[in-house]
Amino acid sequence: MSVDVRREGRVALITVNRPEALNALSSAILEELHEELTAMKRDDDVGAIVLTGAGEKSFIAGADIHELATKTALQAREYAELGQEVAHMLETIRKATIAAVNGYALGGGCEMALACDIRLASDRAVFGQPEINLGIMPGWGGTQRLARTTSLGFAKELILTGRTVPAQEALERGLVQAVLPPEELLPKALEMAETIASKSPVAVAYCKDSTNRSLHGDIGSNLVHEADLFSILFSTEDAKEGLGAFTEKRKANFVGR
Ligand code: COA
Repeated sequence: MSVDVRREGRVALITVNRPEALNALSSAILEELHEELTAMKRDDDVGAIVLTGAGEKSFIAGADIHELATKTALQAREYAELGQEVAHMLETIRKATIAAVNGYALGGGCEMALACDIRLASDRAVFGQPEINLGIMPGWGGTQRLARTTSLGFAKELILTGRTVPAQEALERGLVQAVLPPEELLPKALEMAETIASKSPVAVAYCKDSTNRSLHGDIGSNLVHEADLFSILFSTEDAKEGLGAFTEKRKANFVGR
C-alpha cells in the first residue's frame, strides 16, 4: 500500500508513501486515497484529517508523469476525473482537512493541497503548476482553485510559466496559512487538527459547507443558506451543550448530535 493511515484520537493522518518517486500520485495511489477518504467520510470517530507526504523532500510531486506518458485522451480524461474526485472529497468532506506540505507540492500535489481546507508548509516546501513544461495543463482543479485561493494574475503566472515558488512566497500570496521549520510542521498540523476535532462535528461540517460557498454562487442565496444552517444547529445537543457550558463556565463536551 502506498497510502498510510494513522489514527491519533479523532485525527486521521494520511501519508502518501512513495518517496522513491517523490510521492507522485499514480492512479493506483489515487484509488487508495479515494478509498480511505470514502471510509473516513462515514466514520464519526474521525473529526479531522491531515494529509502529508513521506520523506523529507516531497509532499506530492504531482501526477505520475511516467504513467501520463502512456495515456490516450480517454484514459487521460479518466485520470483527470479521478484526481478531481479525490480533490473534491478533500474540499467537501464534513470534517476539516489540513495539508502538511513537507516539500514539493507540484502539479497534482499543489492541487491536492489547494483542495484542503488549510495549508501549512515547511520552510522547504516548493509550490507550482509546472504542467506547461510537459506540454499539458493542470487537470485536478489547479486552473480553478489556485486563482480562487490567491489571485487570478498570480495563478495565471504560475500556470503559464511553470515557475515554482518557495514556501515564503506562497505565504505572502495567501497560498498557505503558515510556514514552519520542518520538524514543527507535522506536530503543528496535528495540533490544529486535534483542536478542530474537539469542536462539535455538526458545527464544523456546517461552518465548512457555508464557508466553501463564499467563492461560489451569489452572496444573497449563500447568506440565506448560512442562516438556514445557523438555525438548524439550534436543534442539536451540541449547541445546547456549547451555549450552556459557556454560561456554566465549564468546558463543553460535544457529542456530534
Ligand atoms: N511522476 C513520476 N515520477 C516522478 C515525478 C512525477 N511527477 N516526480 C519525480 N519523480 C521521480 C523521478 O522520475 C525520479 O525517479 P528515478 O530516480 O527512478 O529516476 C525520482 O522521482 C526523483 O526525482 P528527481 O527528478 O531525480 O529529483 P530532483 O530532486 O532532481 O528533482 C523535482 C525534483 C520535483 C524538481 C523533479 O522530480 C520534477 O520536476 N518532478 C516533476 C514535477 C512535475 O512536473 N509535476 C507535475 C506533474 S503533472
